[in-house]
This record gives sequence, structure tokens and C-alpha cells, in this order.
Amino acid sequence: MSHIPVLLKEVMNYLDPKPGDFIIDGTFGEGGYTSEILKAVDSSGTVLAVDLSPVAIKNGKDKFKKDIESGNLIFKQGNFSELGDSFVSPLIEKADGLVLDLGFSSSEIEDYGRGFSFMRDEPLLMTYEDSKEPLRDALRRLKKDEIEKILRDYSGERFARKIAESIWETQRKKPIETTFELVDAVKKTLPKNYEMGRIHPATRTFLAFRIFINDELGALEKILRDSEHILKHGGRIVVVSFQSLEDKIVKNEFKNIEKTGKGKILTKKPIPPDRKEILENRRSRSAKLRALEVL
Ligand SMILES: C[S@@+](CC[C@H](N)C(=O)[O-])C[C@H]1O[C@@H](n2cnc3c(N)ncnc32)[C@H](O)[C@@H]1O
Repeated sequence: MSHIPVLLKEVMNYLDPKPGDFIIDGTFGEGGYTSEILKAVDSSGTVLAVDLSPVAIKNGKDKFKKDIESGNLIFKQGNFSELGDSFVSPLIEKADGLVLDLGFSSSEIEDYGRGFSFMRDEPLLMTYEDSKEPLRDALRRLKKDEIEKILRDYSGERFARKIAESIWETQRKKPIETTFELVDAVKKTLPKNYEMGRIHPATRTFLAFRIFINDELGALEKILRDSEHILKHGGRIVVVSFQSLEDKIVKNEFKNIEKTGKGKILTKKPIPPDRKEILENRRSRSAKLRALEVL
């Protein structure tokens, strides 16, 4: 299934890329935003497309071959949190704009084969790269109360304690190696009418572990703190988030930047999708956009 870009019109409106601009798409995904930004920056502009996922980068290189050849598009596989680190950063100059679309593209969850989806039986990795500690290894070292805290803090799971106990007990008998083994450990402890059947019983557990194992909140905090090293004066940062924890980080970091006089918040309130977009793309329903201009 192909990914439908969320809040695309609003992203372009706040990012406001102009011909000749240098823009960073920090979460390339399937290139929904990059494609529009390339049109706006025109043949004199450049886009740097970053993604943690080697699969996203490989597909992007095939799909956008022409733009790479014309020198308008550069790909970089890595964590957007490293963009401000001069020793690893691919930045030759500061950018006119940076956009982050947090979360995952639909096809990544479904096709990646690294254990992101509770719908497929796969090795329980949940990381993008082999160099990072996979979840199945982390589960061998995490204590019961640490698992409970991850589930509660990162996904608000009401049954965090019960699930943590079940995972821990299962783990003691035989280490959990696959997604379905984790799903079983979750399911067997939850009431049959969990969330009245609205979501899969393992939805929150998988979300919480994904945020934890990839340090997603730490990465977000870091890039926002580094924005003055990444963006020019007048450069804009636009963030689309899907969970309240992420939105809270964006809101607070933007406030901190504004307080120090280094930026101006462009969205007094977060921008949600309109009704039409929600009807056309259910995934957009929890999206929130915030934007800031670096001073
Ligand atoms: C929701 S998708 C982006 C979709 C994109 N805007 C589009 O329209 O096709 C998010 C992407 O960000 C990537 N990602 C998540 N965290 C990242 C990070 N810390 N650094 C770089 N990429 C990241 C994921 O691999 C995924 O491909």
C-alpha cells in the first residue's frame, strides 16, 4: 500500500520553499513531501532527503533518479538527530527549511520485515539497522518494572503492569524471539473485550517498544535543540506529529527557542487536518502540525 502524505498542503504553506532554496526532508519515507518541495525549489534549488530506513532510501533513489542526476536531490541514510553534529552531518550550508513527518509510512510497517508489525510473524527487531540493539535482546535485560514503565510512559497502556508481568514470565520460560510470541504474551493477559475491539490488543505495546528501542523522543528533542545550527536566519522548521508525547516535545522545545529570542512560533495552536482529509486518509486523524521560524 502506498503512503498518502499527511497535511501536505499545510506543510508546503508553512515551509514556504522558494526557487533556489535548500530544504531538508528529515523523514523522507516515500517522498510525498520531497516530491512537492522539489517542484517548489525548482532547478536552482536542492533537497536533502534523510531517512533512517535503508529500504526507504533505496526505493527513493530508484524513484527520484532524475532529480539525483540533475543534482537537485541528495540522499542520506541516517538519523535526523545527527544533522546538527558537524562531524557526521552532510550539511554543506545551513538550510532554508526543515520538515519532519514523525512516525512510519504505511508500507514500512507492512513490508519491512524487521518486526514493526504485530500482523506478521517476523524476528522481533523493531530497529532500522543491524548495528542497533534489537528489541528481542533488550527484552533479555529489561526488568519487569522497566517494561511496565515503557508501556505506561510511551503509549499510556492501562494494562501496563499485567502485560509487563506476562512478558516477563514468558521470557523467563523461553526468550521471546518473534513478533507473534510477543503478541501471544500480550493477548493472554488482556480481557477479551480489550478497548471494545477497537484496536488490536498489541497496538500500544508495539508502539511503546518502538519508541523506546529507537529512542524516538530523544532524537526529536535533539534536532529541535540543534535547529539554530541547521537552519539559516529566517529558515523554517515544520513538524507533523501523531502522538501527544511527540507534540508536547515540539510545543515545549519551540517555546524554549522562542523564549531565548532565537525563533518565532508560526502556529499559536497546532494545525489539524480538515474533515475532508480525515475522511480520505484515516491515518491523518491524529496529525498535528507546528512550525517555527529561526531568527
Ligand atoms: C511518516 S514517514 C514520512 C512520510 C513522508 N513524509 C512521505 O510523504 O512519504 C516517516 C519516515 O521517517 C523515518 N524516520 C523515523 N524516525 C527517523 C529518524 N529519527 N531519522 C530519520 N528518519 C526517521 C521512517 O523511516 C519513515 O520512513
